[in-house]
Amino acid sequence: MIKPPLYELKNIVCAYEDEPVLQVDSLSIPDEGPVAFVGHNGSGKSTLLKLLSFLLPQVSGELRFLGELPDKRDDARLQATLLLQEPYLLRRSVFENIAYGLRARGETSLRERVAEALEMTGLPVDFARREWYRLSGGEARRVALASRLVLRTKVLLLDEPTANVDEENAQLMAEAVLDAWKRWNTTPLIATHDLQWLDAVTQRRIFMRRGKVERIVY
Ligand SMILES: Nc1ncnc2c1ncn2[C@@H]1O[C@H](COP(=O)(O)OP(=O)(O)OP(=O)(O)O)[C@@H](O)[C@H]1O
Ligand SMILES: [Mg+2]
Repeated sequence: MIKPPLYELKNIVCAYEDEPVLQVDSLSIPDEGPVAFVGHNGSGKSTLLKLLSFLLPQVSGELRFLGELPDKRDDARLQATLLLQEPYLLRRSVFENIAYGLRARGETSLRERVAEALEMTGLPVDFARREWYRLSGGEARRVALASRLVLRTKVLLLDEPTANVDEENAQLMAEAVLDAWKRWNTTPLIATHDLQWLDAVTQRRIFMRRGKVERIVY
């Protein structure tokens, strides 16, 4: 059986308050590894990531996920998790932040899973005890990434994951997302301006311009 693409978009329009900001006539995203979205500020990258994580409905057009129209958005949402451009943490410990989604999904082995996610993002395991307000900006970003990685979803959508993160730790984040792909077949889809960092992750790129897909390099 032929494997369906991860996503297929046809004649998609997304709008904010009746103002169309994203228009994708035809786009297929294969399930063959990390893919990046690049383009100027306001080109529609974050909007597209929100659409692909089922947080923002399209005004018109068709979006298929693994070959199906996701009618039950909650099911699809469980398979696609988005790390927002401005990630937030719960006002709780690092452990509680990372374990939150696992608990909501009724998962067990929380300690092991949290420790593994911390280790993957290059944070010491004893960070689990830290309170949310005792983290640097870059550490908070990595905790937010760990809280998504830990879910082992089919898709991991990352919006500017390396903002405020130094080079060494950004490198660890690159390794973490590639690790998620290798270990769990979690496909990272990344919007970023950090092209040097991106080179370490993937050469597959979707170039966006003024709300449209301008060019695709797979
Ligand atoms: N919540 C919103 N309400 C209204 N308009 C919005 C909203 N969010 C984004 N827009 C508009 O939609 C367009 C696309 O924005 P989007 O955030 O998707 O761009 P982006 O490529 O992620 O940009 P950046 O590189 O700055 O993050 C822009 O014109 C922006 O002004
Ligand atoms: Mg954005």
